[in-house]
Formats: sequence, structure tokens, C-alpha cells
Amino acid sequence: MSTGDTYRALHARSLNDPAGFWAEQAEAIDWTRRWDKVLDDSTPPFYRWFPGGELNACHNALDRHVDGGRADQTALIYDSPVTGTKKSFTYRALRDDVARLAGAIAAQGVGRGDRVILYMPMIPEAVMAMLACARLGAVHSVVFGGFAANELATRIDDCTPKLIMTASCGIEPGRVVQYKPLLDAAIGLAKHNIPRCLVFQRPQAAATMVAGRDLDWSEAVAAATPHACVPVKATDPLYILYTSGTTGQPKGVVRDTGGYCVALQWSMKNLYGVAPGEVYWCASDVGWVVGHSYIVYGPLLYGATTILYEGKPVGTPDAGAFWRVISEHKAVALFTAPTAFRAIKKEDPDGKLLKQYDLSKFRTLFLAGERGDPPTIEWAQKLLGVPIVDHWWQTETGWAICGNFVGLDPMPVKPGSTSVPSPGWHLDVLDERGNRMKAGEVGALAGRLPLPPGTFPTLWNADQRYKDAYLAEYPGYYKTGDAGFIDADGYVSVMTRVDDVINVAGHRLSTGQIEEVLASHNDVAECAVIGVADELKGQVPFGFLVLKAGIDRPPADTVREVVLLVRDRIGPVAFFKTAIVVPRLPKTRSGKILRGTMQKIADGQPWTLPATIEDPAALEEIKGGLKTAGYATKS
Ligand code: COA
Ligand code: AMP
Repeated sequence: MSTGDTYRALHARSLNDPAGFWAEQAEAIDWTRRWDKVLDDSTPPFYRWFPGGELNACHNALDRHVDGGRADQTALIYDSPVTGTKKSFTYRALRDDVARLAGAIAAQGVGRGDRVILYMPMIPEAVMAMLACARLGAVHSVVFGGFAANELATRIDDCTPKLIMTASCGIEPGRVVQYKPLLDAAIGLAKHNIPRCLVFQRPQAAATMVAGRDLDWSEAVAAATPHACVPVKATDPLYILYTSGTTGQPKGVVRDTGGYCVALQWSMKNLYGVAPGEVYWCASDVGWVVGHSYIVYGPLLYGATTILYEGKPVGTPDAGAFWRVISEHKAVALFTAPTAFRAIKKEDPDGKLLKQYDLSKFRTLFLAGERGDPPTIEWAQKLLGVPIVDHWWQTETGWAICGNFVGLDPMPVKPGSTSVPSPGWHLDVLDERGNRMKAGEVGALAGRLPLPPGTFPTLWNADQRYKDAYLAEYPGYYKTGDAGFIDADGYVSVMTRVDDVINVAGHRLSTGQIEEVLASHNDVAECAVIGVADELKGQVPFGFLVLKAGIDRPPADTVREVVLLVRDRIGPVAFFKTAIVVPRLPKTRSGKILRGTMQKIADGQPWTLPATIEDPAALEEIKGGLKTAGYATKS
């Protein structure tokens, strides 16, 4: 194992000479116009990478590989145990399909800078739709299929798309999720008018078309002429991806084109240790940032083969599913969330199913999306016998903030730590007043500005919110919203969020957003939502309801209704299943709900009575309610 000297020298250079460092990495990308400047830092806190440069992300992901000798190499493998389908696309085939789809959407008036919402299941057409938008210089915004109509409507109104691309259904184990009724409801709820929808009909469900608005995808593609790549500015948005904020209004994270292509290209070799032509598998969903970066753009920009997996780690058909996919397609790396491994471990604790498969090509497991708990990491390490790299990520950052750079200079793994900062990331741990803390002390993790290429330059149509939410608290820094520590060797451990974001099975949710839904129920006077520890999903949301005076229905009825309301308004992905009715909420004298203390009680962690509490008896009531619900067993 290395001493990390190569990494440390490279990281130091990325901070001391960012322009020189990133200009070198940018040579690996095709530009139609070279940048005027590597970094524009003339209007802090806004920074722009490669201004003046022009390129096309789809050209870099497809056409240049077709022209450069990879035309017959597999670009995309679609493996769908839920439909019993497997299909491969060469770079040439994928380029041709994408060019034709781009022609079809251009025929609907979509051009450079126009937004297109994609509400798609995990099928090749989802990847094609993203790349077709990129080909035209249009800005895609993918909405995860597990979100409800209301969430889709919020995104429609925020990014005002010209077109929505969808499919008739998604497939969850045991049920077909009809997308079209959800889409129709969302369009009905939204204020913004949607002139056109392109609908891909899957055999598992037929979508009812709205005459004059909806077009059949296959027919539109059949009638289209292939469209060439349209160069865009390096600083133009490639996509908008919405993520949970502290309110019901999600944040539209903007990803620019040039810096993102450069950063992802660099990461494929140096972080993931993959060579062009090898098979790389990210078992996420295209609806999440990880899916954008490492199912679609990263592997294709790099000339690798990517796998699109429409299935789960367990139950499709069993806990050997991941081993089957790795062995069958000869994947050298897998990127997934720890929760997927907890699910596998629960069903097959001794890893018996692994013995049926040949994993000789498999080199590294990458985990992200939530804290990698040491027992899961150690179990995976023992079972697989390959390095397990826990790396830290956010929708905002587009690629890893920290990781172990196995393709550059693999360093010793410390379970519980996400290893060391990516190039361009200068992290500090700050106390409440913004002072830097010592090695090993837990505080707010913050990155010094400017952040490296690939990270978000702003929020969609919301520069002020960008500044207020991320940059205002610690001047000169990006506030990550995560707390953790950096040890004496520079290893970073991410412990928890400092805001009201919780992480449910690797999915990011806002408790504030769930509270808004609960508060809208007629019976509810006040409410609070916390994330309680869950063996499989890491955390699950848990609600506390205070009912209005005079409500004399059985509390269980209200609980059942709010559970349905959250599923209906936010979607099944929120996984909100449990709430209890309590007489009041514990608060400080200034009226702040003591969510942190409630969470510690629920998880059986040590807690102290806050000095500012209004009435200690309220906490006892919460504890009693939690105990009855099967929580707070250790406190
Ligand atoms: N469309 C519609 N519904 C969806 C959906 C989609 N695309 N994805 C999930 N859902 C639904 C599920 O069916 C489930 O509904 P239910 O409550 O009716 O059962 C609910 O949303 C919660 O889904 P999920 O969190 O996926 O739970 P699960 O029990 O189905 O699966 C895991 C659990 C651990 C297997 C799964 O969460 C998983 O694989 N997570 C890994 C995530 C990941 O890899 N992230 C990438 C790294 S960041
Ligand atoms: P998302 O924006 O959905 O990717 O979620 C980002 C959040 O997930 C981060 O702010 C962290 O709270 C959490 N997270 C992601 N990766 C890790 C990791 N490796 N360790 C700990 N937390 C993580």
C-alpha cells in the first residue's frame, strides 16, 4: 500500500495552482472552442470554470468514441430482472438512437437552453433522453419515479419545461407503477403550461394519450431525422437536478457543462480506477445525482461500458442479484449505497449466494449516499476480499468530495471514514462561530471557495437562495450541511447532517417537507418529524402529531390518513409509515422544537435535558409515546 505521497502532491497542486491543474485535465475533453480562462473568480462568491470554452457533452460521451475507434464497443448494458430483459448497445448504436431522438425532440421546438423534464423509469430510453437533450444543448431535469404528482408539479413550475418525456410505467417488485396518471395529475396541478409530452409505451402498461398534447415516442423517433451535436458554452447548464431543501420548495441544483465533463473524466481513472473499455456499474437510479454522474455521463465520457440495472439488490430474484450482474457482465467496479449491502447481508448473512458466481474481474466496491457503517463495510470486505471505498457525495457537488483514489494512489482504508479530499476540495471543520477546529474534533464540514469544477455554480433562478443556503453562514466557505471530523492524517469522517435533512435508504429527504404535509391535515395543530435509526434503511421518518382541541376521532385514523397523505403528496420514496399522537411537543422557551433530543431518545442514545426547555414533562410524554411504538428501548 502506498504512503499517499502521490495523492498528497496532486491534491496540494490542485489547491496551489487550480488553473494549471484543471487546464491539464481539460485536455482529455473535446472542445469546439478553447476556454478564455480556466477559472473566472472576478465575481465572488460566484465562480465559473472554463468561461469562453465551448463543447457538447453528448459529443464527448458518444460521437468522439464512435469516431475514435470504439464504435463497436458496448456502451450500455440494460439488465432488467423485473422485466426479464437484457439488451446491449454499442457506442455506434447508442449514438444513432440518441441522434434520432434528438431530432424528434428538436422537431417539437426544443433547442439550446430550453428545459425538458424527464420522468422515466430505469430503461435505456431514459439514458437516451438525457443524452438527446445534451446533444441539442437543452437542459434536462430528471424527476425520480418514486416522487408523487405534487413533487413533479413543483419542478414543472420551477424550471418551466417546453417538453416532458416519460414512459407508461415503472416496475417495482410486485407492482407496476403507472406513470401517466401521475404525470397528467402533475400537469393539472402546475401553473406552467406543458404543450407537449413524449410518451414511451412499455408493454407492461399502456398510457392513455391526451390528444393534441401527447406524442408516441416510437412514432416520433421513426419520423425523425438525426440531429447533430450543438456546441454550448462551458458555463451553460447541462442539467438541473432538484434536491430536498429545508422547505417544501426543492432546490434546483444547476450543473454546468464544461467543468462537469472535465471532473468526471478525471474521476473515472483516478478515483474509480477504471480503464476505457472496462465495465463499470453504478446501481443507483438515473433520478439521483449518482445516476447522472456514474450511470450516464462519467462512464460514457470515458469510453467505458455502463450498466443500467432495473432491479433491486434483493428480491429480484434474490440476494445474489448483484453478484450475478457483476459476474455476467464482467464489471470491474460497483458503486452503490450501504443500505443495499445491509439488505443483502440481512437475507444472506453468510454470503452463500456469492459462491455461485465468478467475480474474478471485480476489483473495487464504492459506497456512498449515506454514512458507511463500519459493520456493513467490514462484512462486505470479508465477503468480497476487495477494497471497499466509502466516498462522500452530495447532489450539489456532482462528484465525490472525498474518497480513496484507487486508480491514482490507493491509501489505507479506515472504516467509518470517507478518506481524503478530492482535488480542488480544501475542507475545514468549523465551530458555531466559524473558527477552525482541531484534528479529531467534530464540527461543521465546510469547503473553501472556489469549489472544483463539476460542483454547482448556483441554484436554478435562485442566486440569492444559493448564497443564503450555502455561503452566508461561513463567509468564504461552502457549508456542506454535514458534520464530521478530519483526523491527523487528513482523513475525513462524515457523521450526520446538521440540518433537517434525513437519509432514507440512500435517498435524501427533508423532514421539514414532510412536516408541511402533516400540518396540512385538518386534525393536526402542530407536528414534528425526525429521522429514527433503522437497521436496513439507515434512517426512516417518524412523525409526532398534536391534534387540534375537540378532535375526538380515534388517533389511529388521523395517523393512517397522514401516512397516506405523505405518500400521495411526496411519494412512496419518502417511506413515511409511522406517526404517533402526543399531547404537546417539547420546546425551548423561545419555541424551538427539540427535534435533536427527540431523535436521541428514539435511538436510545445518551441525552441531556436541555437547559432552555420550557417544560421537561413534554419530553417524558414523547419518551412514553416512543416506547409504546417500540422505540426508545435503550434510553
Ligand atoms: N418508482 C416508484 N416507486 C418507487 C421507486 C420508483 N422508481 N423507487 C422506489 N419506490 C417505492 C418502493 O416501491 C417502496 O414503496 P413501498 O413503500 O410501497 O414498498 C418505496 O418507494 C421505498 O423504496 P426503497 O427505499 O427503494 O425501498 P425498498 O424497500 O423498495 O428497497 C433497498 C430497499 C435498500 C433495496 C433500496 O432502497 C435500495 O436499493 N437502495 C439503494 C439506493 C442506491 O443505490 N442509491 C445510490 C447511491 S446514492
Ligand atoms: P444526496 O444529495 O442525495 O447525494 O445526499 C447527500 C447527503 O448524503 C450528504 O450531505 C450526506 O449527508 C450523505 N452522504 C453521502 N455520502 C456519504 C458518505 N459516504 N458518508 C456519510 N454521509 C454521506
